[in-house]
Amino acid sequence: MGSLALDLLSALDPVTFAQDKLDFEPDPWQANLLRSTSNQVLLNCCRQSGKSTTTAIKALHTATYSPGSLVLLGSPSQRQSSLLFSKVTEFRKRMNNGLKLQEDNRTSFELSNGSRVVCLPGSADTVRGFSAPSLIIEDEAAFVDDGFNIAIRPMLAVSQGRLILMSTPNGRRGHFYEAWENGGDDWDRIEVTAEDCPRITEEHLQKERRTYGEWTFLQEYECKFMDAANQLFRTSDIDRAITDEVKPLFFGSTNVKPLEFEEVS
Ligand SMILES: Nc1ncnc2c1ncn2[C@@H]1O[C@H](COP(=O)(O)OP(=O)(O)OP(=O)(O)O)[C@@H](O)[C@H]1O
Ligand SMILES: [Mg+2]
Repeated sequence: MGSLALDLLSALDPVTFAQDKLDFEPDPWQANLLRSTSNQVLLNCCRQSGKSTTTAIKALHTATYSPGSLVLLGSPSQRQSSLLFSKVTEFRKRMNNGLKLQEDNRTSFELSNGSRVVCLPGSADTVRGFSAPSLIIEDEAAFVDDGFNIAIRPMLAVSQGRLILMSTPNGRRGHFYEAWENGGDDWDRIEVTAEDCPRITEEHLQKERRTYGEWTFLQEYECKFMDAANQLFRTSDIDRAITDEVKPLFFGSTNVKPLEFEEVS
């Protein structure tokens, strides 16, 4: 295939972009994510499955082929966002005939087509001031402040931008868990357990299971949203115990006589 045809194919197909421009061969689930056109994607993936690497490619593809686009990278801390940002930067440097840089610093770069990639700590106040993002990626989303997620949603509504939340689970709480469990059809969901990752060996998994025990293993490698280890009752049992069919004994406090205590001298 001629180089012009390959360039065109790379623009249209992020998998070709990864293979041809970045010399990166995606796993099957990574190819699915790269090709996903869904506006809201949830990645529930085990540790080291390649979620940051794959979304870094998605970020670079968007910035390269959608001129003037804004890509925001968020995570629980500036340090973690910078790690994702440096993956995008590494891939940018790997590109043959990539676009020239207009501006480059430790937390953002701008390409000659006007696209910007910016990394932020995942707190609500850092997001205000940006507008019309084409893509927002939340890394370690189960650990990111819910306030960050609330702050980005109006921007996405206006720009029709794309949101990718990716994480290993962190208990049955927070916006990542809620979207995964109760977000309905508004989301595309991709689950990647350790078994789906060709680079994680059975031997390593057995060792991890022995070392850290079942609870940690299920959360870190099998994508399970676990109840807190010190929780007395399972959340599912509490949910089952709550019913609308039984009327409460008292409404408000009108019938309830406050308890009286004798003063102890
Ligand atoms: N398709 C692939 N082919 C070869 N190596 C890959 C592929 N995908 C990911 N890797 C490698 O696997 C390692 C883990 O990747 P990455 O950091 O993206 O995973 P992660 O899921 O974000 O991990 P963590 O849970 O620690 O944040 C990296 O060394 C990365 O280069
Ligand atoms: Mg990562």
